[in-house]
Amino acid sequence: MKRTLKDIDVREKKVLVRVDYNVPIDVNFNITNDKRIVSTIPTLKYLLDENAAVIIMTHLGRPKGNVIPEMSLMPVSARLSELLGKPVKFFGGDCISVQSKKAANDLKPGEVLLLENLRFHPEEEGKSKSGKKDEVAMETFAKELASMGEVFIQDAFGTVHRSHASTVGIVKYVKDAAVGFLVEKELKFLGEALENPVRPFLAILGGAKVSDKINVIENLLNKVDVIIIGGAMAYTFMKSRGISTGTSLVENDKLDLSIELFKKAECKKVNFLLPIDHIIADKVDFLNKSIPDNAVVKTTLDEKIPDGFMGVDVGLRSIDKFSEVVKSAKTIVWNGPLGIFEVSEFSKGTIEVAKLVAERTCKGAISVVGGGDSVSAVKKAGVDERISHISTGGGASLEFLEGKELPGIASIPNK
Ligand code: 3PG
Repeated sequence: MKRTLKDIDVREKKVLVRVDYNVPIDVNFNITNDKRIVSTIPTLKYLLDENAAVIIMTHLGRPKGNVIPEMSLMPVSARLSELLGKPVKFFGGDCISVQSKKAANDLKPGEVLLLENLRFHPEEEGKSKSGKKDEVAMETFAKELASMGEVFIQDAFGTVHRSHASTVGIVKYVKDAAVGFLVEKELKFLGEALENPVRPFLAILGGAKVSDKINVIENLLNKVDVIIIGGAMAYTFMKSRGISTGTSLVENDKLDLSIELFKKAECKKVNFLLPIDHIIADKVDFLNKSIPDNAVVKTTLDEKIPDGFMGVDVGLRSIDKFSEVVKSAKTIVWNGPLGIFEVSEFSKGTIEVAKLVAERTCKGAISVVGGGDSVSAVKKAGVDERISHISTGGGASLEFLEGKELPGIASIPNK
C-alpha cells in the first residue's frame, strides 16, 4: 500500500502537488471539461486546511519543450481559483524562473501557487534543449522543482504512466512523498476491481483497434468471468472466426492474435461475447463526423455484414444480449465505445450500455468507467453520477488494466 496524504505531516509545510490539468480548452480559452481540476479539489482543500503552502505543477498538451502561448495554464489558474474560492498566484513564463522560485519561497501558509506548463521544458520529459534524450537534464530539472517545496504529493493519476521529472524524478529530492486523495481513489476502485472483484466480473471493451487493447484483453482474461467486445475491434475478432465483415475496419495482421485470445478465453472459461447484429452503412463522412445524404444505413439480421457495408454500431439484439450479462454482473469495468461514437446517430449502442451499467450500479454493482468516449457516453446518457467511479486517466487507466507498473505510483514509498 502506498503512503497517502493522511500518512504524512503536511501541516504548515511547503507542499508540491503534481496534478493532471491536461484539460480540453477551446479557441476562446474556455475549459470545456473541468473534471480533472474538480477531482483534485479534495486534496487541495485538505492541504489548505492543514495550513500548507501549496505549489501546483502540471502539464497541458504536448508542447514538446517549446513555449506555446496557447498551452499556457492561465485559463486553468482562473478556473482553479473559482473552484477553491481563493486567489491562485500564477506568473506564466517559466516554471523554474527566478520569479517562480521567489513566488514559491514567499508563499505563505494557506496560499496557492500554480506553476506554468511543465512541458515548456524539454527536461520534464527527459530531453535536452536540443531534443535528445538526456537523463542528467531531467534530474537537474527534477531537483529544481523539488527545491521549491518540502513534501511531494502525487495526485496526477492521468500522468502516472509517464516517467517524467515531475512524476518520478522529483521524489528523491523531497523530504517526504505520498499519493493524494484522487490517486488513492483511482487505485482503490481500479485495484479492487482487478485484485478482488465481486463476481461475476464483466469487462466491456470497445474502440477501434485490437492492437490498442491486446494487453488489456490478455490481462483481463485472467480475471473476468465475462467479456463484451464492441466497436471496430469486434470486426477483427469476427473475421478471425470466418464471419463476413464487409468494408468494416479490420486489422488483418491481428487475425491470428484474435484466434489466440479466443482460445485463451475458452481455456479460462471466460464467456467471450461479440455483437450478434450491427448497424451498418455504405458510407460515413469521418471528417465531418456525419452520414452523407445519399448513404444507406440499416440493421443486419445477424452477425454477418454484407459486402459494400461497414459496421458502425451494435444493433438492438446485441444490446439485449449484452444487457443479460450486465444485469447479473457485480463488478463492471468499461473502456471504449461500442460504435462510431463521434457520429451521434451511431452512438446509440454506447449510450444504451452506459444506461445499463448505471442501472446495474444502482442495484449494487461496482462500476468503473475509463477512456474518453465511454466517459463522454455516461455523461451524454446523463448517468455519470450513478457510476461508482469514472477514471480521470485515459492512457494511465488502460496501462493499469494491462497490469503494468505505473512509474508515477511506483516512485511513491509504501506505508
Ligand atoms: C492524458 O491526457 O492522457 C494525460 O494528461 C497524459 O498526457 P500525454 O499522453 O500527453 O502524456
